[in-house]
Amino acid sequence: MNEPALKAFLAECQARAEATLERLLPVAETPPNRLHEAMRYAALGGGKRIRPTLTYAAARAVGVDAATVDTAAAALEMIHAYSLVHDDLPAMDDDDLRRGRPTCHKAFDDATAILVGDALQTLAFQVLASDPRLAVDDAARIRMIDSLARASGSLGMVGGQALDLESEGRKLDLVMLENIHIHKTGALIRASVNMAVCAKPDLPADKAERLDHYAKCIGLAFQIQDDLLDVEGDTSVIGKQSGADAAHDKATYPSLMGVGPAHEAANDLIDEALKSLQDFDEGSDPLRWIAEYIVKRDR
Ligand code: IPE
Ligand code: IPE
Ligand code: MG
Ligand code: MG
Ligand code: MG
Repeated sequence: MNEPALKAFLAECQARAEATLERLLPVAETPPNRLHEAMRYAALGGGKRIRPTLTYAAARAVGVDAATVDTAAAALEMIHAYSLVHDDLPAMDDDDLRRGRPTCHKAFDDATAILVGDALQTLAFQVLASDPRLAVDDAARIRMIDSLARASGSLGMVGGQALDLESEGRKLDLVMLENIHIHKTGALIRASVNMAVCAKPDLPADKAERLDHYAKCIGLAFQIQDDLLDVEGDTSVIGKQSGADAAHDKATYPSLMGVGPAHEAANDLIDEALKSLQDFDEGSDPLRWIAEYIVKRDR
């Protein structure tokens, strides 16, 4: 992996995502102030911005300008931030720490956190529908809205979250666990890459398919690494309570197959993702760096 290049690319994409979120989120001075303050707390409070970064990397791979997809990248991060706020609620994973700070419902209250999720979710679709800076035609806007909605809903992320909660305390097999991870985390990661494909209608179908396969592989690997960090990571580094999955008797890759085999499974998926990019030129290098980063990351 070209570490300096990855670092520079990540920093550039994080800055773009932050600036776009800053522009699109209502200011805290707009009433209802407390809700807007909490939305900003949840969406601007750090985070790796891996989903926007994937949108920018895929855009570069298919020859679309970063500026064209800024809004789409921010919309993905809004959905992601909402999913984390709800994921941390007492009725779900009941976590107090996120990105090294109190979770949204701890810093504010449960009702505000529920509303923060609701409002971030609808804002994501609003900006895709009408932000004038989203430099695509109406057909591409509709493809983006459709893609993000499918990835977010009951057949995507929300469905995965439902299965994750149902799985607590249950013994799952690998197929069932993979299905949870593909939905709760993989779906949004797949949509992140797909946003760039939506902006490039003349992309050959086989290239779009290979990008989608890449995204599927890294999406699953991303959640396996998240499970591993819950076991092997340090609370102070990962910015969330380590050991939380075991405490909730969650179905995870390390709990099902052991830590070593879980690392191997994640690495195999990254190899498969990289193979999918074999015929792509150096414009796809950021996608390659991100794939390797996903299993090497420590947070
Ligand atoms: C954490 O996502 C939740 C999962 C879907 C695994 P990230 O690891 O992307 O969290 P942030 O945005 O960097 O905090
Ligand atoms: C989160 O999975 C998936 C979504 C938020 C959609 P986890 O529950 O494992 O994420 P963390 O570990 O709390 O970030
Ligand atoms: Mg969860
Ligand atoms: Mg959680
Ligand atoms: Mg986790």
